Amino acid sequence: MKIAVLGCGAIGSIIVESICSGEIRNAELTALMDIYPDKCEKILENYCPTVKANISICRDLDCMFNSKPQLVVEAASQKAVEEYIPKILSRGINTVILSVGALLDENTLQEIKQACMKSGSRVYIPTGAIAGLDAVKALSNKGIKRIVLRTYKNVYSFDKNTLEKLGFKEVTAKTKIYEGRGDVAVKLFSANVNVVAALSLAAGVIPWVEVYADPELKRNIHEIEVESNVSTIYIRVENTPHPLNPKTSYLAALSALQLLKRIVVEEPIEVGT
Ligand SMILES: NC(=O)c1ccc[n+]([C@@H]2O[C@H](COP(=O)([O-])OP(=O)(O)OC[C@H]3O[C@@H](n4cnc5c(N)ncnc54)[C@H](O)[C@@H]3O)[C@@H](O)[C@H]2O)c1
Repeated sequence: MKIAVLGCGAIGSIIVESICSGEIRNAELTALMDIYPDKCEKILENYCPTVKANISICRDLDCMFNSKPQLVVEAASQKAVEEYIPKILSRGINTVILSVGALLDENTLQEIKQACMKSGSRVYIPTGAIAGLDAVKALSNKGIKRIVLRTYKNVYSFDKNTLEKLGFKEVTAKTKIYEGRGDVAVKLFSANVNVVAALSLAAGVIPWVEVYADPELKRNIHEIEVESNVSTIYIRVENTPHPLNPKTSYLAALSALQLLKRIVVEEPIEVGT
């Protein structure tokens, strides 16, 4: 399968490495796109030195389309999803979306759904930095009464301006910096709580969210509580931050990698809902 990657950062680089090393079988990289093309050049140099001449480094979608990808992996930003994903889907190209927070915006969600319906393309959303979306999806068949996400990250993971806007100029101890609706949280912390959107799409209800900044914390922690008539679930995931981007959990990149393996290689036995 021919694959293009949008976003040459922490997650994009793991995807590129996995394609060029052959870890993802039957996958061929056709193009990389980023607002900083030098980042794409660097990862091609590091991970794809022998085939880099065949891989386009793009600044715009036309260049990416010329490389004829069958799948685009978005690992850039919510803004990139709004700007590019409906156009990519309209061409009939399937996409994997990491910046899933963008899909909590009703206009973007509708645009994406319409592009898929018109062209027959599909969107895949990896579980990302959490666990348990399979059970949440299953429970949504009978309705979910309550869903809460608590996220704890080191204070340096949060955008300084956002913290100041919320009235937290300096955070010297564990502090609750936000409590409220999930759709508001993904807009406020666009690079920190994409998992809210994945949970929301799986559950069919918007989670209640608490966000904590802790200067002592070395891991990114997500706690999820789900209550339904059928089951009560409590999940706690403690993630190592990605070395290239502390806002991103390493698990999120591995989750995208695993999803790609599932899309590209049809295994005879598939585990998980
Ligand atoms: N779903 C999840 O569980 C989950 C977990 C972690 C991160 N994420 C999201 O995935 C995305 C990628 O994460 P990352 O850690 O690799 O980020 P990163 O900051 O390391 O890399 C993002 C790259 O995309 C590029 N980029 C940003 N906006 C762009 C645009 N409009 N057009 C082209 N290039 C653009 C940046 O220059 C950068 O090189 C982020 O939006 C992040 O919030 C999702």
